[in-house]
Amino acid sequence: MIVCICHRITDREIARHARAGLGFDEIQLELGVATQCGQCESCARDVVAQCSASHPVAAIALAKSILESRAWHSSVSSPQVQAQ
Ligand code: FES
Repeated sequence: MIVCICHRITDREIARHARAGLGFDEIQLELGVATQCGQCESCARDVVAQCSASHPVAAIALAKSILESRAWHSSVSSPQVQAQ
């Protein structure tokens, strides 16, 4: 799907750059998205946000923070729920 009509930039191009670790500003400089009329900016930002959230580095950081959180370890010392 074309996100930026002015520059003929697709969501796939934006997603590929976002998965490579680029932020919106860097993608904007690289591709020129949202640099003419600006109508595509919110859609382009949404694509970047969706792809950045699914980026493996973000998933690893999230998993690490879950493992290190107090909530993760609280179930070990908490009493088990009695079966009815
Ligand atoms: S549609 Fe992207 S700058 Fe115009």
